[in-house]
Amino acid sequence: ARTPLIAGNWKMHKTGDEAGDTAADLARRIAGVTGREVMIAPPFTALAAVKIAIAGSIIGLGGQNLHWESSGAFTGEISGPMLTAAGCTHVIIGHSERRQFFGETDETVNKKIQAARAANLVPVMCIGETEAQREAEQTFSVLDKQIRNGLQGFALQDISDLVLAYEPVWAIGTGKTASREQAQEAHAFIRSVVEKLFGGPAAAAMRILYGGSVKPSNIADLMAMDDIDGALVGGASLEAATFADIVTY
Ligand code: 13P
Repeated sequence: ARTPLIAGNWKMHKTGDEAGDTAADLARRIAGVTGREVMIAPPFTALAAVKIAIAGSIIGLGGQNLHWESSGAFTGEISGPMLTAAGCTHVIIGHSERRQFFGETDETVNKKIQAARAANLVPVMCIGETEAQREAEQTFSVLDKQIRNGLQGFALQDISDLVLAYEPVWAIGTGKTASREQAQEAHAFIRSVVEKLFGGPAAAAMRILYGGSVKPSNIADLMAMDDIDGALVGGASLEAATFADIVTY
């Protein structure tokens, strides 16, 4: 059985103080919750404050991005070993906003996953189609290509703890959640691609999160589907009370 992972992506929200307060509030609210993994990915400048706030809780810490080199002349970038040293256990890679606004490609995603592994971080690799691609019935081909290219060259042991996040771009921050049937269909397809590439046991073990307008009111419906193993939550993860409701769906 796959342990559900509920992850909060705080994007470019909250100062260190604000993030520390929210994380401490969340830790209090979900104290004693079992059978779930929880992770929050605050901005880099808030990692230190959140690390302190979640100490002793079940909440893990994630980066929202990393560079593929471990150090060097790359102004403005953060490396895998830096994230690990800052207390991170996870790192989000290839979020659609990074792909849309910052030039990330399947190739940079592939390099970043290698870098995450080298730094002992669990990569949370994001994939998903745009609205135009869905309307043109390219959803499956887009997902297939993102998975194959993102995971190209990896052996079974390289993806053993990798988490996939299916985030249809048209559902992010729009209030338009994919229906649970739409999400399940995409997740089942994603698992079938992982099976073709890495075999049945790897596919059965891999966690595939859904992201895109997840809220307390739709999380239970989504989690009831066979191939949905958790959520990557944006807006609704910013308030401790709301996010705690999602974690404890
Ligand atoms: P929203 O939950 O705000 O739609 O964002 C989803 C997302 O992009 C999480 O990474």
